[in-house]
Amino acid sequence: MTESKRADIMDSASDSKEELYEHLPQWLKDRLQWFLDLKFGFFMHWGPYSQWGCIESWPLVEVDEWARPDTLRPWIERGKDIERFKADYWRLNETFCPREFDPESWAKIAERAGMKYLAFTTKHHDGFCMFDTATTDYRITHSSCPFHTDPRANVTRHIFDAFRARDFGISCYFSKSDWHSPYYWWPGAPAPTRNPNYDTAKNPERWERFVQFVHRQVRELMSDYGSIDALWLDGGQVRPPKQDIRMAEMAAMARELQPGLIVADRTVGGPYENILTPEQRIPDKPLGYPWESCLTMGNGWAYRPDDEYKSTRVLIHLLIDIVAKGGNLLLNVGPTPQGALDPVPLKRLEEIGAWMAVNGDAIHGTRPIAPYKQGNVCFTKKGGRVFALILAEDSDEMPPSNLRVEGICPSEGSAVTMLGRETPLEWTRDGDGFRVSIPQETLPCSHAWVLSFRV
Ligand code: GLC
Repeated sequence: MTESKRADIMDSASDSKEELYEHLPQWLKDRLQWFLDLKFGFFMHWGPYSQWGCIESWPLVEVDEWARPDTLRPWIERGKDIERFKADYWRLNETFCPREFDPESWAKIAERAGMKYLAFTTKHHDGFCMFDTATTDYRITHSSCPFHTDPRANVTRHIFDAFRARDFGISCYFSKSDWHSPYYWWPGAPAPTRNPNYDTAKNPERWERFVQFVHRQVRELMSDYGSIDALWLDGGQVRPPKQDIRMAEMAAMARELQPGLIVADRTVGGPYENILTPEQRIPDKPLGYPWESCLTMGNGWAYRPDDEYKSTRVLIHLLIDIVAKGGNLLLNVGPTPQGALDPVPLKRLEEIGAWMAVNGDAIHGTRPIAPYKQGNVCFTKKGGRVFALILAEDSDEMPPSNLRVEGICPSEGSAVTMLGRETPLEWTRDGDGFRVSIPQETLPCSHAWVLSFRV
């Protein structure tokens, strides 16, 4: 299939996405099925910007005023002077010193929460490298950053190692756009938007230097940081014709170094967007193509001291909703500038973990099954088993004592059990579904309860 045909299909309805999936090489299908088994990942946005408790990178873009609200103190303190503000943002590397950095504790917590993979921002759009690159001084291991003397200064390495030690899949977030690079935002002219501030067609040498710079960084990440499962490329504006990063060449290089690498050239479409990555939203139905929703536990990707976090119940319900539609949830928490996790998300992760300890079987390694979601009941399947995941309504602490499940029915003679309880439940067929009596005492968990049966 030609690349333009692929791109056309990516933009259209889900039926043709299924066709696109069918045409992928078998090795990639195998890798994507492996990825879909993981279901629940931990996303971490972290960089010097966490010191300001601001949105990551975006306040640097003049036209993106939404990223500099009047509640942002560093913005107000600088009299809303964009030049002063930008100059000081660029200098945040000089005070970034996360002495509490302890990636083993992050990995342990994420594992207990039932997460199976990690995605970390090795470089966000502001260009600050959280890894030991030879391409720029704007990096955590350079003498301009006080953390460079710490034995763990190359934080990307220590984060990837700590999670890999617990069998996590590793997804490397990397921004193709780089607002610190003089080959992207040329210092000789104003840079009001997220795009290069020069005409790349008229200055092909400058753009070529940018391409080389990005390829070198990706080569470093794919060479020196152990086994990587996915390269998650943000900065979707970086695409042909004006910002051609030579994706085919870059992906070939990355895959030579990391055989089996999944590439997520997000929003670009075509052969290097191996997974779709809906952001802060959940599709209405299965997409017919591997996908992962990235959602924030709080309101933003980066740490904010005053952030408001979603409740444990909401988070568990989001996970179930996503998995019932065949996707993965990549749930983001931003560490503090000191390198710790805030107590509120820690508590949420503990509580999600308590739920997953009972019900993880209905999440990990499952696939969607029609009717996916009926009212408050979601479905997943694994082998010959189907799981009905009953979402608690509002503030209910218990499932209904007599529940009608629509659209799916256990096979004749199948036991219906609740995960976390031994005794089978009484059930009877009812139209296209079934009725089941649910005990109200000794419930194994809160927020959502799972029935398991054969169909
Ligand atoms: C959006 C944000 C970006 C963030 C990403 C994560 O693209 O603009 O800052 O890194 O989402 O999905």
